[in-house]
Amino acid sequence: MKSFLPAVIFLFSLVVNAGAQSICGTTAYKQQMVKSDPSLIEVFRNIEEQIAAENNKTNGNFAMRDTTANEIIYIPVVIHLLYKKAAENISDAQIKSQLDVLNADFSMLNSDQANTPSAFKSLAGNARIQFCLARVDPQGHKTTGIDRKYTSQDLFTTNDEMKMADKGGAASWNSKHYLNIWVCRLSSRSLGYATPPGAAADKDGVVIAYDVFGTTGNLRAPFNKGRTATHEVGHWLGLIHMWGDTNCGDDHVDDTPKQQSYNFGCQNFPKLSNCSPDSNGDMFMNFMDFSDDACMNLFTRGQVKRMRALFAQNNIRNSFLASFACDSTLAVGGPLPTTVTHDVVQPAVPVAAAIKIYPSPVNTVTTIECKGATALTIKTLSIFNSLGMKVFTARLNQEKTRIDLTNLTRGIYIVHIGDGKDKFTTRIIKQ
Ligand code: ARG
Ligand code: ZN
Ligand code: CA
Repeated sequence: MKSFLPAVIFLFSLVVNAGAQSICGTTAYKQQMVKSDPSLIEVFRNIEEQIAAENNKTNGNFAMRDTTANEIIYIPVVIHLLYKKAAENISDAQIKSQLDVLNADFSMLNSDQANTPSAFKSLAGNARIQFCLARVDPQGHKTTGIDRKYTSQDLFTTNDEMKMADKGGAASWNSKHYLNIWVCRLSSRSLGYATPPGAAADKDGVVIAYDVFGTTGNLRAPFNKGRTATHEVGHWLGLIHMWGDTNCGDDHVDDTPKQQSYNFGCQNFPKLSNCSPDSNGDMFMNFMDFSDDACMNLFTRGQVKRMRALFAQNNIRNSFLASFACDSTLAVGGPLPTTVTHDVVQPAVPVAAAIKIYPSPVNTVTTIECKGATALTIKTLSIFNSLGMKVFTARLNQEKTRIDLTNLTRGIYIVHIGDGKDKFTTRIIKQ
């Protein structure tokens, strides 16, 4: 009997692990990713180095251009909603309720932060990240940010087919400027999964089961408070589970206590485990544990630093700082469509050949000439300074647009016209 016990415990732990696997796709997904493309190990290592470099800066910089370390980061989101049954075609209200949860959780405005045990309260961090449903699509048109699509697939798995148009899924929007969220029926009890930073561009994003998305509608308790998306977006921003995905592992965050493994349900504080550093035990109410939605309520400052470090210059999510898709005034005409199509409009004239900017260097007024203006499917112009800050935007409605740059200081500026496939980038010099 004595010698039998370890075997029983081993079998039991297999069962528990299998249970965890079936609701946490992300860990398994990441392992699979590396297995099928070992070069990703190097990609992940690079990202870690950049995070470390950013976090080692002594000025307490939360990653980014030094002067604006506290700025709010805006993330345009596109929801690819795939449904076969009517129940899976969830309402706009349900989608918006999820955006509300993300915005509260990533700006430390979630009302349940009151439930963070006082021992951990001072560790809670405000990520200052805001999510909007995209108002400009990759072709420059107005959009609702919700891409509804009928699918013939009964359900999807972690093999990414929801991201492939030819597999009944929907292709991603440029993941340098949009957070792609696929909402669909997932197999078995799966709640969702995320790609870690560094995944292939067309796979980058998060997937959430339709019945754990948002806080209103027909939801699967106890995953009915929108925390699956909070957790997965945490992964998408480089966060790792509290236990580092191994027994007493490391999550690369200093202010989260070591813990042996995951917590389910709603634990009572303190919950000690084998590697608890002190009597406070596990931070089971962290968004990166597996507790029930109603029992998770914080990211720590260290986690916030880690997430924001991804937006630093040279790091993988930096391009979001120049993303303007939250701003509907930059979209090209027309009423908001109710559905979004994926057709890419091919420009008749190559964009670069159609655009002239003169004079450069410029003193006061510069002229932008878009010869075959129809070639441009997006007619927005943005000017960035050398720190990557947007300093000027305009709409190009005519063949010739004159813009006054008198107020810019001397220097070199980057000009972006359009986006995605049709993007034209050049430099102008201001005297
Ligand atoms: N374990 C899942 C994963 O990482 C998500 C867990 C979300 N937890 C929750 N209470 N909603 O993929
Ligand atoms: Zn997870
Ligand atoms: Ca830690």
